[in-house]
Amino acid sequence: MKISVIGTGYVGLVTGVCFAEIGHDVVCVDNNPEKIRKLKEDICPIYEPGLDVLMKRNREAGRLQYTMDIGAAVKNSQVVFIAVGTPPKATGEADLSYIEAVAKEVAQAMDSYRVVVEKSTVPVKTGEWVRRTIRFNNKHDVEFDVSSNPEFLREGSAILDFMNPDRIVVGVPSQKAADLMREAYKPIIDREYYFDEETQTVKKAEGTPQGPKAKFIVTDVNSAELIKHASNSFLAMKISYINAVANFCELAGANIEEVAEGMGTDSRIGEQFLRAGIGFGGSCFPKDVVAFYEISKQLGYDFELLKQVLDLNQIQRDIYLQKIKNVLWIIKDKTIGVLGLSFKPNTDDMREAPSIYIINKLLEEGAKIKAYDPKAMDIAREIMPNIQYCDDPYVAAEGVDALLLLTEWDEFYNLDLNKIMDQLNYPIIIDGRNMFDPKKMKELGFEYISIGRPEKSEK
Ligand code: NAD
Ligand code: UGA
Repeated sequence: MKISVIGTGYVGLVTGVCFAEIGHDVVCVDNNPEKIRKLKEDICPIYEPGLDVLMKRNREAGRLQYTMDIGAAVKNSQVVFIAVGTPPKATGEADLSYIEAVAKEVAQAMDSYRVVVEKSTVPVKTGEWVRRTIRFNNKHDVEFDVSSNPEFLREGSAILDFMNPDRIVVGVPSQKAADLMREAYKPIIDREYYFDEETQTVKKAEGTPQGPKAKFIVTDVNSAELIKHASNSFLAMKISYINAVANFCELAGANIEEVAEGMGTDSRIGEQFLRAGIGFGGSCFPKDVVAFYEISKQLGYDFELLKQVLDLNQIQRDIYLQKIKNVLWIIKDKTIGVLGLSFKPNTDDMREAPSIYIINKLLEEGAKIKAYDPKAMDIAREIMPNIQYCDDPYVAAEGVDALLLLTEWDEFYNLDLNKIMDQLNYPIIIDGRNMFDPKKMKELGFEYISIGRPEKSEK
């Protein structure tokens, strides 16, 4: 099948590359010339495990091309995925101007029937606007359908998630569009491919498929759009909820890890997204919860709960800052080490990373910051030029008055804690991700503060 994907960011690039991997002819489009230049040379512009290998393999096999020319890509494809950004406006509403711009260009290029698919996360009813935009710019007056196919991949495990989804949701206005969408996803629905963790690459399953088929859920367009906002907001709510319970645990002398396990083993609750910490970040949860709130308000419903989810997330960051003050007393002129800058492990994405808020607050109060992250330092340098970036975690810990753990990279679980101890000015670790066992940290001689766990290992 011939497919084009417009927008080659975290979602568009993964979508395009994975569709090529399962055998489709894919053209990826972006209006950023530097990005397209890199992609043509098999240079992956983002850090996403396994993506570079698939890019090279599929470009060499002739199934994957890159261009800045939307018109040419659209002319040469049956299904057109729009995967451009939908960032928040100052009001919190989603900025849909990139979607509109692309819809216009697509409409002008279409010379026969096309399914135009919203892959980007958009508020409910965006499909109606996209359809109207295409209708007004439909130069060749061709038949078309606008479909919604929200993406549920997570950064850091994007290929695995795309190739092995729990479900694929397609909102369609016609059977023809539903059939084309099913055809596009057929090998994924049938679980013909899997992501091999060991080699970090996708493999075709020999013989029997890998597990039961992925659910292919067909809905109307509005419902598909809403499923995405409702899913992300629900997951964000789960995180805010567990963080609130963690704060309560501290007051009640209970342990959040045990509470979360006891809750999560109830299959109706589920064990995922119950890790307490410093709140959710990233390019999606913060913006999608607020966009969901804004669209609900526009449609006449005050979805108050969503505001609470965001408020709790902000409070969680401030509570963490207070924990730092509780052990350092005065922040001015203290040197603070930070391990982990990206909003979660296995990505270089710094969008809405909790580290930015926390570090900026400490800088405002006169602290000096030494930081280390395995993959996000190049991007972090542009956002926070006034901190010291270190080549490894031990350098970041050298001579600091306290060490903060802000992202739970695997590398940090394997730290030589005795060596860290030797580097520190004071043996203080404030762990925003509950990475270590408080008892063990106490035995090692640390003053170790974490989230929602009573065992404070004060010296
Ligand atoms: P991104 O910013 O990484 O990528 C967007 C890309 O679109 C950029 O490369 C940009 O240059 C390109 N672009 C913008 N205007 C264009 C135009 N007119 N023509 C061609 N290209 C254009 O964004 P992202 O993180 O990939 O997110 C894209 C959408 O997918 C958002 O709506 C987001 O909410 C949603 N989403 C993201 C994730 C994720 O993990 N990042 C997961 C699911 C859904
Ligand atoms: C999230 C969703 O999980 C995806 O399904 C969705 O497609 C995507 O948003 C999107 O729409 O962009 P992502 O943001 O990549 O994916 O990462 P998550 O693993 O969901 O983590 C988001 C944030 O929540 C991170 O800051 C993480 O540290 C935090 N988190 C997550 C917790 O604090 N506790 C948890 O238990 C889980």
